[in-house]
Amino acid sequence: MGCKIVGHGKALPELIVSNDDMAKIVDTSDEWIVERTGIHNRRIALEETTTSLGTDAARNALADAGLAADDIDLIVCMTISADAVVPSQAALIKMQLGASNAVAFDLNAACTGCIYGMDVASTMIEASVASEDGSGIGHRRNAMRRALVVGAERLSRITDWTDRATCVLFGDGAGAIVLEWDDNAPGILASFLKNTDDEALCLTVDANHDLRPFPFGDGVRMESLGEVMDIRNDDGEFWPQLPYIRMHGQRVFKFATAAIVEAGREVCERAGIKLEDVACVIPHQANDRIIRFAAKKLGVPYERWQVSIGETGNTSASSVLMALHDAYESGRIRPGDFVMCVGFGGGLTSGALVFEA
Ligand code: ACO
Repeated sequence: MGCKIVGHGKALPELIVSNDDMAKIVDTSDEWIVERTGIHNRRIALEETTTSLGTDAARNALADAGLAADDIDLIVCMTISADAVVPSQAALIKMQLGASNAVAFDLNAACTGCIYGMDVASTMIEASVASEDGSGIGHRRNAMRRALVVGAERLSRITDWTDRATCVLFGDGAGAIVLEWDDNAPGILASFLKNTDDEALCLTVDANHDLRPFPFGDGVRMESLGEVMDIRNDDGEFWPQLPYIRMHGQRVFKFATAAIVEAGREVCERAGIKLEDVACVIPHQANDRIIRFAAKKLGVPYERWQVSIGETGNTSASSVLMALHDAYESGRIRPGDFVMCVGFGGGLTSGALVFEA
């Protein structure tokens, strides 16, 4: 018994932006981007919103599961580019879906969001089942059997389109799965979550402060992340506020490769399986070079890794769920397979999850 993935879906904006298109706005080239990242194209939302993308992905996952919105008890949405702070992105998607029985909330674990979201949703379902049948520890809680786990991003809104080191990497899109309690199938077998202090703040997005006059004290007081964390530039000044993705690529690259290897090993040990038993790996789609490095280090052949980055770029909290959908659609996940999802991202977060398909 456990939580099983019974439906999956994704949604992408219409507009395809190629590397050659990017070379028209910043000093870059198709050759550089492909060689360093494996990215050829990304989708950019002009008409679409985080809400519409997340809702479409969720609808597709529900259709795949053969379920109606009313069947859903819980919606967890992972995002770093929500359309609003309040209501939450999950609440907006719930409204669009008409999922009248669901409770909904957001979760921010940056690019590792999919792993955290699947873990949190399955834990809530498992706790609910345990509280109902009296076998669990803890209090009585909402009855939950089915959850929508949605990753939805419109990173184009928090991308600095003048910074070639970051703007070529990101794209927009959404992915979703339906998790359902199953009395007979094991579903999710193990998870591993970790936070490593990002002391040098190598991956950040400042809050998008509204600098209207403040009616108390000396007036406006809105600290940049540099002031909050006492991070200064080479001139000794605080980092300026920058409500865009700011990244030290090489530091993140180093962290990412080590984090995937650690999470992959740990989660398989917890699941009681060997790495060679994993039929398919769904990694965060940040860089094909990171995936190749991790495949080699873990000894899981590259052919078993789902690589979707070429057509979508890095879609942060959507990436693993979108890639998972691609893996199901291409027929590379068969019933009974051990599948490992593994990710890393801002925070710094990292994690992995193993399930039996
Ligand atoms: N086009 C051409 N040249 C570029 C570009 C570009 N788009 N971007 C940077 N360069 C230049 C740099 O200026 C530098 O030039 P210099 O040598 O003259 O100084 C040179 O290319 C090399 O730059 P590096 O940063 O050293 O390049 P690197 O090989 O490290 O690749 C990359 C950069 C792709 C960003 C890589 O470091 C990476 O993938 N890091 C991990 C990023 C990641 O995984 N992020 C995930 C989390 S994102 C999130 O959570 C939202």
